[in-house]
Amino acid sequence: MSLIKYTLFKLLRYVYLLPSIILLLWVKKQLNFQTKSKKFLIEYNSELNLILNQVEKYYLKNSIEEIGGIISKKRNELLYSSEIHNILSSDLDNKLLKVLKNDEFCNYLSLFFGYKLKFNSYLIRLNFYNSKLKEEEGPKMWHRDNDSFFGQIKLFSVINDLKTETGGLFSFIPQNTIKDYEYVKNTNDDQLVNKNDRGSRILNSEMIKVKGVRESIINFGLNKNQYLAIDTNDTYHKGGYLQKDKNIRILLQVIYEPYFNSLSNYNYLYKKNILIYHLKNFLTGIKNRLRTQIKI
Ligand SMILES: [Fe+2]
Repeated sequence: MSLIKYTLFKLLRYVYLLPSIILLLWVKKQLNFQTKSKKFLIEYNSELNLILNQVEKYYLKNSIEEIGGIISKKRNELLYSSEIHNILSSDLDNKLLKVLKNDEFCNYLSLFFGYKLKFNSYLIRLNFYNSKLKEEEGPKMWHRDNDSFFGQIKLFSVINDLKTETGGLFSFIPQNTIKDYEYVKNTNDDQLVNKNDRGSRILNSEMIKVKGVRESIINFGLNKNQYLAIDTNDTYHKGGYLQKDKNIRILLQVIYEPYFNSLSNYNYLYKKNILIYHLKNFLTGIKNRLRTQIKI
């Protein structure tokens, strides 16, 4: 049974991504750079480094009072994060868009994943400590996103300085430890207050019971000039928990999607076209059912 599920899972992925795989093969001949072995880490873009340094200054010097106001307001709403790209200057917004959409950069990223990608959108998220909230709830627990059928990539970069002891790192488990066609289920979820978390999010105490996970967890965010690119729909990840008051994290998150086919919440048609909406949800539901549970 699990062989059939595995085959169907891989077949769906392959068929869906095939046009973008072919396109990458087509353009590959003209590209003059190679992929690196550490697939998820990019230490490439000096232009982006420069702009993100300006973005950091913009938020932490020019807009620090506004940031303080956002944090107080959101804390009262029992939140631990807020999207803040709407307060970025249009000059920095344009500079960022130019680099993130750049053809060469998209091709570079495409080579990591084996199919042609295109830029979709970006956001900047502010995370902060909130004493009223638990560490393990919502996206701060191990989870996979459910916002795309296959092939969507998120690129992350932490814009401000973080330290291990203040928290805020982004953690993930590479797919060679937990494969895209496998899933983990809590064996004891009594600690979970939130019902939504019970079905889809995994406690850390449970996740580290999976063979090889403890050793393979990668924590990202201590180096400002690094970029992480992963498929968050198929890779377990968590993040955003700040351990101490006054500590914040400012994170760039960029969405790239397959060049052809985009069954994703980020597709502008998703909310407008009822067919796209139901097709994405239906196919993503099937995909999730084709996964095989890892026994812990
Ligand atoms: Fe996520």
